[in-house]
Amino acid sequence: MAEAMIEFQSVTKQYQSGQPAVDELSMSIDQGSITVFVGPSGCGKTTSLRMINRMVEPTSGTITVGGKDVITVPAAELRRSMGYVMQSSGLMPHRSVLDNIATVPRLNGVSKADARKRAEELLDVVGLASGLGKRYPSQLSGGQQQRVGVARALAADPPVLLMDEPFSAVDPVVRDELQQELLRLQRDLAKTIVFVTHDIDEATVLGDKVAVFAVGGKLAQYATPEEILRAPANEFVASFVGRDRGFRHLAFTAADGVEVHPVPTVTRDGGAVERPDAADGWRLVVDADARPLGWEGPGPDSDLIPGGSLFRPGDTLRRALDSALSSPSGLGVAVDEAGRVSGVVKAAEVLAVIESARQVRQGAL
Ligand SMILES: Nc1ncnc2c1ncn2[C@@H]1O[C@H](COP(=O)(O)OP(=O)(O)OP(=O)(O)O)[C@@H](O)[C@H]1O
Ligand SMILES: [Mg+2]
Repeated sequence: MAEAMIEFQSVTKQYQSGQPAVDELSMSIDQGSITVFVGPSGCGKTTSLRMINRMVEPTSGTITVGGKDVITVPAAELRRSMGYVMQSSGLMPHRSVLDNIATVPRLNGVSKADARKRAEELLDVVGLASGLGKRYPSQLSGGQQQRVGVARALAADPPVLLMDEPFSAVDPVVRDELQQELLRLQRDLAKTIVFVTHDIDEATVLGDKVAVFAVGGKLAQYATPEEILRAPANEFVASFVGRDRGFRHLAFTAADGVEVHPVPTVTRDGGAVERPDAADGWRLVVDADARPLGWEGPGPDSDLIPGGSLFRPGDTLRRALDSALSSPSGLGVAVDEAGRVSGVVKAAEVLAVIESARQVRQGAL
């Protein structure tokens, strides 16, 4: 069992009369984990997050961090002891990127030279070229600004990182990159991260645990992403999680049991590399290193048709099925660690594996 780092005990926040923003919230957040607060707009996610570092004070109830009641720690000191990343990167526009990152260490009394050195290291940690350090925030893209925001939050090496919709202002591709980078960073850093989003997909990708909030600041479910998709606690969670949840749940099961079949491949200059008679006349076109380029249809003189998603070693059932469904031939292309074609998977067989996994689960209940 992981140790609790942050605990909410019957915490209520009432800004004005009427419905509270957060209502009797009790939950325990594990040390070294990513906990995601998710829910519709106005359900109290930001309020709950900000009560952790006393940017907002609770009306009643207690919050402890590392066993210590936050009320006993001066608010300014508490705030500096935790990293905070928000939706707009919140960078100071008239300071360089490096100076922005060095802000909190400087406030903590670190020398200018050391703070700068640390800021330079952090640029690299968050995947930014060192040349960007001298620029001003407005001279960076949205995704780069968010990376600087993350670097700044990490600068004082705080054990706790609070992130309020940090990736919601960037496009989906950059967002995906930032999510993957956060997961990579977390593997090294093992911070206690509380992450707010209203996107259930982001929540299930990032969270070790997900807290689903309902309007009125009530905690509707607090569980692993797998469990929230498989067994929503009530109608509200089920509808919030959405109609693709059955499909998305496949992202939590490895596709080890799916058979990979041999496939006929050709190189673009027409040289047949290998032609077992499968694939209904479809031929997989590969480069000289056997990496997939696309498909040739059954007829003669067929053009190269772009392939679908690839199925890689260690991938989940969701990826296996997607590779087959997104492929023009209906066959999902499997590749090895080096990206070379290892064969194809078939949608019907992936579904059969899914069904037998379901039966095993039913039997186990
Ligand atoms: N400073 C404030 N004064 C009064 N009411 C507030 C204040 N801050 C938030 N609220 C109200 O408290 C409720 C919860 O707000 P909060 O910002 O915590 O929601 P949220 O879940 O973060 O929403 P969003 O997804 O839109 O960011 C809302 O009804 C909001 O209007
Ligand atoms: Mg909010």
